[in-house]
Amino acid sequence: MSEMLRFPDGFLWGTATASYQIEGAVDEDGRGPSIWDTFCHTPGKVFHGDTGDVACDHYHRWEEDVALMAQLGVNSYRMSVAWPRVQPEGSGEYNQSGIDFYRRLLDSLVEHGIAPVVTLYHWDLPQALQDLGGWTSRDTSKRFADYAYEVVSALGERVRLWITLNEPWVSSHLGYGEGEHAPGTADLSSAIRASHHLLLGHGLAAKAVRSVMAPPSSLGITLNLAPTRPASNSDADAEAALRVDGYANRWFLGPLFKGTYPKDLADLFHPVTGDSHVHAGDLETIATPIDFLGVNYYFCHTVADSHGAPQPGTAPFGPAVLRAVGRPDPAVPVTGRGWPVQPDGLTEILVRLRHEYGPVPIYLTENGAAFHDYVDPDGAVKDPERVDYLESHLKAAHAAISAGVDLRGYFCWTFTDNFEWAAGYSQRFGLIWVDFKTQERILKTSASWYAEVARRNGLEIGRRL
Ligand code: FCB
Repeated sequence: MSEMLRFPDGFLWGTATASYQIEGAVDEDGRGPSIWDTFCHTPGKVFHGDTGDVACDHYHRWEEDVALMAQLGVNSYRMSVAWPRVQPEGSGEYNQSGIDFYRRLLDSLVEHGIAPVVTLYHWDLPQALQDLGGWTSRDTSKRFADYAYEVVSALGERVRLWITLNEPWVSSHLGYGEGEHAPGTADLSSAIRASHHLLLGHGLAAKAVRSVMAPPSSLGITLNLAPTRPASNSDADAEAALRVDGYANRWFLGPLFKGTYPKDLADLFHPVTGDSHVHAGDLETIATPIDFLGVNYYFCHTVADSHGAPQPGTAPFGPAVLRAVGRPDPAVPVTGRGWPVQPDGLTEILVRLRHEYGPVPIYLTENGAAFHDYVDPDGAVKDPERVDYLESHLKAAHAAISAGVDLRGYFCWTFTDNFEWAAGYSQRFGLIWVDFKTQERILKTSASWYAEVARRNGLEIGRRL
């Protein structure tokens, strides 16, 4: 008999999306421009010159999309609100049509028995705020708290979980440190300041929103976390892995859960940017208690010491001050995106969170994979690799629950194929295929497989449709 892994009662099963990746309609009904509009329209920034101008046209097709979700039978859905759709300039006037769009969408989800999980910031900063310095400016934290307060006041009771920020590491380091994401700045000092202002924005928003949020709604933040592994058993590589862990994980977990930046990284970053941007009281604000932590998990980082010089066949990992290079294990399989498939890392990070940061409720707010999907001559999209990927990660998540982790939900990235940031439309992460010319949606095999897991609240290992 095959093994059946049951999940806790009330477990949330959903898919996750982000406004800019699906909505399109970038200049309709009063939406203002965001940094991603500007970035996409800057030649050379996004693969193939792709933009989110139309994306999945979800702004016009949301009813069809909610119906598809209901057909899947998932009991939750993680989405994000586009800041420039509800407050075009990022300060001042709010846009009633934008708020009404989200109100209609959320009402419809609730009517279909789908509990909404809403991220307030999934990277689409109003361009007007970027023109004033974006997240490198302290004022953006305050603007974010005002916006969060307004959105929660307007839409509050429909939403089960509010998530302030999605992956502040990506916003700060890929957006301001490496320039791979909008706004495209490549400067470590800017990235460090941006990371502080993002965390401060989270804390200020958490405080502001508390006064207008009523149970059963609760509030948290989503971090992308990755175990870091040394490429060899040398002391130098172990130390490099510790530095990368500080940069990718502890830099955000420390302030949120312990009210301090990790000392090793603070020492490393101090010569770059000083600490005048960290004001008295900021860390207390950042450590405002949260109800849950959202974790996005994709893979582990395997790194070696750079010994201060480029090494053949390796790429530097993060900024030069880390003195690290990425050295993925060639024996580990990769997805179509080239990301290593390491389900054991998921159990590891969840168990570690419990040991190092206490028994906080956790939701896996993203996990999933891109593969080279295609439509068969018979019109079907068969994606057995994605089913294997999801099965192995759900098994790993279950192992963490068995080890005492308070895991309360799983959100597959992603609902439909969509605009994958700097990779444009080249990476298909969806459970549902999208033909970007016609906007036709086709359920992939993985969608039906996932629907069955959600329906049973259990994973039957080896079960295939
Ligand atoms: C995460 C993002 C999400 C999506 C996935 C693949 O970093 O939060 O929007 O792009 O990666």
